[in-house]
Amino acid sequence: MGLVRRFVSKETPQLASLGDDDDLVPMRSEVRTLALAAKGFLSEQEGDRLFILAQRCSRIAPCVEIGSYCGKSTLFLAEGCRYGRYNLFSVDHHRGSVEQQQGEPYYDPELFDEHTQRHNSLPEFLKNVERAGLSNCVIPMIGESERVAKNLAGIPVSMLFIDGGHSLADVEADFVHWSKLVLPGGYLCLHDIYLNPEDGGQAPRQVWEKAQSTGSWRSLGILGSLGVLFRCR
Ligand SMILES: C[S@@+](CC[C@H](N)C(=O)[O-])C[C@H]1O[C@@H](n2cnc3c(N)ncnc32)[C@H](O)[C@@H]1O
Repeated sequence: MGLVRRFVSKETPQLASLGDDDDLVPMRSEVRTLALAAKGFLSEQEGDRLFILAQRCSRIAPCVEIGSYCGKSTLFLAEGCRYGRYNLFSVDHHRGSVEQQQGEPYYDPELFDEHTQRHNSLPEFLKNVERAGLSNCVIPMIGESERVAKNLAGIPVSMLFIDGGHSLADVEADFVHWSKLVLPGGYLCLHDIYLNPEDGGQAPRQVWEKAQSTGSWRSLGILGSLGVLFRCR
């Protein structure tokens, strides 16, 4: 897979052509252990791919993830951002997706806040980021994804990871509102792409295919269920 290498020009933060991986720093083992132990929905292989991309991309411009949850993907991404000059914006309202509400398949009673009587993943997220010593590398954005995107309109993004709501409307909205911020030469990662419908919901796959049909995004392949697209124009 190709990875971002350097600035083309300091004035125009455009991402350069692809390079090799010879200057990558490995993930700290204690952070890997914390990331693997965190509640969440990401394999180690997928996490490693995010870590490598973030390490490259954070030299160029901020990285963004939609769907912080308890910080599993965040730790891989933010650990990558330790080596760049830019941070990770991690976006989540922390109220949980539809499938994480009471009575739904991904409900977790440990994340239910008795005081507010609703799901709240924010304390667990902050605890994990703090324990990993990554507070300086992550800017938590606590809010509705579409609203946050509209408020950040115009910022350059080197890498976008979409793993928020999984309905077609949610994934499409995340794609429409966030992908336009990704710089040419930057990356869009989509989680939960299942080529076989029996393995999972099809919304991320539909958006993955739609993105490529625009001609602006080229596939760099799928690892596990993590698809990576390269912005070619
Ligand atoms: C599948 S989880 C993310 C998993 C996480 N990336 C990981 O590595 O384990 C989806 C998250 O997206 C958040 N979410 C869903 N819809 C959202 C929206 N419209 N705006 C902001 N956050 C949203 C939920 O609160 C939930 O925490």
